[in-house]
Amino acid sequence: MKKFNLGNSDINVSAISLGCMRINGIEEDNAQRLIEKAYDLGINFFDHADIYGKGECEEIFGRILKKASFKREDIVIQSKCGIIPGKMFDFSKEHILNSVDGILKRLDTDYLDVLLLHRPDALVEPEEVSEAFDSLYKQGKVKAFGVSNQNSYQMELLKKYLKQDIVANQLQFSIPHSSMISQGLEVNMITEGSINRDGGVLDYCRLNNITIQAWSPFQYGFFEGVFLNSEKHKKLNTVLNELADKYNVTNMAIATAWILRHPANMQVIAGTTKVERIEAIAKASDVKLTREEWYKIYISAGHILP
Ligand SMILES: NC(=O)c1ccc[n+]([C@@H]2O[C@H](COP(=O)([O-])OP(=O)(O)OC[C@H]3O[C@@H](n4cnc5c(N)ncnc54)[C@H](OP(=O)(O)O)[C@@H]3O)[C@@H](O)[C@H]2O)c1
Repeated sequence: MKKFNLGNSDINVSAISLGCMRINGIEEDNAQRLIEKAYDLGINFFDHADIYGKGECEEIFGRILKKASFKREDIVIQSKCGIIPGKMFDFSKEHILNSVDGILKRLDTDYLDVLLLHRPDALVEPEEVSEAFDSLYKQGKVKAFGVSNQNSYQMELLKKYLKQDIVANQLQFSIPHSSMISQGLEVNMITEGSINRDGGVLDYCRLNNITIQAWSPFQYGFFEGVFLNSEKHKKLNTVLNELADKYNVTNMAIATAWILRHPANMQVIAGTTKVERIEAIAKASDVKLTREEWYKIYISAGHILP
């Protein structure tokens, strides 16, 4: 399994990670099998958020951690806070500190490796975020910090006040959902792809050594569904299947390899709940697509080359 350090930190992480947002939808024994299989495949990174399953996903993971075949210190656990579903976003010091206490209790662990701010809060006061992060860091409750769904200037604002580095930004990214690529290819054009939706976040993250974590790597739109084997993405699936045959892997592995091929060293946050699918996805670590193949996949998803 390909590994690298998260941002400027010394936390060594697998390029493929298991997202735990859906583990409350399966039996706990099956969740344990999934998590242990992921670990055996070299996946040492597990992504959570305080809101997944209203906290249930962290609780399940915490119970599994106590009986798993690996130890707490063998893995990297990330969680997120800042969303109060349907009501508001909250990056206040009080909310961040309380959220982390809740996360640690549910995961039944003394520390989080990484804490992300889940979605930008319009009322953010960066001085408060800084105080919260500093307090969590000094108490040993959180080792590293990052953000999710933030653009470049939102990160710049935080950076002005934070004492700790931003090590990761978790963003939606997949072959069909790749405006962070198209805006860089269609610069200054009057095309849909040229729209800068995130303040040039891809280049910003590369310049600042912030790891981009790709969430929903097999979905398109805003939770519209999976593009693999979908009638709506026929051309893309034809190309993915051709390459799957060539490399003797599944289409999921090719879709994952497409993200891993980008030189920004992105991390893929896969959200499957199936052992056989995480096995298939992990095979992407051994596939290095050629430049021609990478572009062929991109174009087959309907993106243009000017
Ligand atoms: N930061 C954020 O705002 C944010 C937002 C959303 C998610 N996330 C994180 O990202 C992780 C991944 O998100 P995600 O779960 O949406 O990602 P995903 O890996 O793209 O999607 C997983 C879902 O797609 C299904 N699926 C995968 N391959 C399939 C196929 N070939 N055919 C049919 N169904 C297939 C899976 O079903 P099976 O379980 O049956 O395989 C599962 O329901 C989450 O767990 C979470 O940690 C972060």
